[in-house]
Amino acid sequence: MTHTSTRSSIPFPEGFLWGASTAAHQIEGNNVNSDWWRREHDPAAKIEEPSLDACDSYHRWEQDMDLLAGLGFTDYRFSVEWARIEPARGSFSRAELAHYRRMVDGALARGLRPMVTLHHFTVPRWFEDLGGWTAEGAVELFARYVGACAPIIADGVRHVCTINEPNVIAILAGAARTDDQPWPTAGGTVTPDEDTTRALIAAHRAATEAVRAVNPDIKVGWTVANQVYQALPGAQEATAAYSRPREDVFIEAARGDDFIGVQSYTRTLIGPDGPVPTPDDAERTLTRWEYYPAAVGHALRHTADIIGPGTPLIVTENGIATADDSRRVDYYTGALDQVAAAIEDGLNVQGYLAWSALDNYEWGSYRPTFGLIAVDPVTFERTVKPSAVWLGRLGRTRQLPRTAAPHTGS
Ligand code: FCB
Repeated sequence: MTHTSTRSSIPFPEGFLWGASTAAHQIEGNNVNSDWWRREHDPAAKIEEPSLDACDSYHRWEQDMDLLAGLGFTDYRFSVEWARIEPARGSFSRAELAHYRRMVDGALARGLRPMVTLHHFTVPRWFEDLGGWTAEGAVELFARYVGACAPIIADGVRHVCTINEPNVIAILAGAARTDDQPWPTAGGTVTPDEDTTRALIAAHRAATEAVRAVNPDIKVGWTVANQVYQALPGAQEATAAYSRPREDVFIEAARGDDFIGVQSYTRTLIGPDGPVPTPDDAERTLTRWEYYPAAVGHALRHTADIIGPGTPLIVTENGIATADDSRRVDYYTGALDQVAAAIEDGLNVQGYLAWSALDNYEWGSYRPTFGLIAVDPVTFERTVKPSAVWLGRLGRTRQLPRTAAPHTGS
């Protein structure tokens, strides 16, 4: 579809979510009872650096929310940490449940609508010891934990994400099995582990039921990583086959959900024999991914094509790791232009949450800085970047910018 709007902005659709996202392990610090903490301290895992105190947001979440609300954002996606809430199998911490409830209340008091993620990559050590997602009883254990989160989500929480990027979890499980590359970078060839895929879909269904039992008004969904697979000439079929187990089955599993979270950063070019390397002359970001702001538009359209009409789409993560904040503004400008074009073309996009509120622990390293807000690693002092001011202001105007360039859909 070709879009040729010349408008310089479009109004946010009614009720549009406008915010930033984080994940507990990446910002809280001292998540000592989690599988990731253990891995970070295992020399065999070859992790660049451990998370340690992260951004100390476990103690500084009020300041983080003050900043986001002050900037003009109206929504904040954060995750609650299973390893804290259920530190031993079947033992639930009232103090930790109360901690996360205070965060929900704190967000609401500041005019930030909380979107709560129940699982964002980390699990308690005891769950990993049991065998993780494919262990006997894993789905029921996750559903029981979700039920125990009732005090956190029962009132005032409109959106809940059950599991963040299940497709990345399945790919990591596949990588662990084949001893292949540890992280599914764009262009990676790891095959997702099928048993893990099945278990995660079952866990999502069970968690959805558990959330609806707590409060049937909560909108429940999960968030899928979109690698924006683009076919080179002659590679249409190869691309569809490549996308299917890595992305499409997870999008299909969301049919009937209240929404699906769309997360994208870059693209992956696919030739007849699979992914091809990013051209040498392409601009790259601090994660080494190609600088490609149009990714989110393709991800939205691909998700809508697979899931079909009716399921609302929310961009739950989108952003860039860069030390040059002007490139971040440029990236978000290009990305939002695509979001606006998708809305104008009739896609039911209900929100946009940037990744990330803070420079944080990027699964092995603090080097890739995705944050709208910088964090001093020693004092934990927060410094708002110009991109945060720019993006937050759009929340006040409630207008999505358009560069008015003709948009060509994929
Ligand atoms: C996504 C994750 C998020 C962050 C961004 C850069 O895959 O959900 O935690 O690492 O990528």
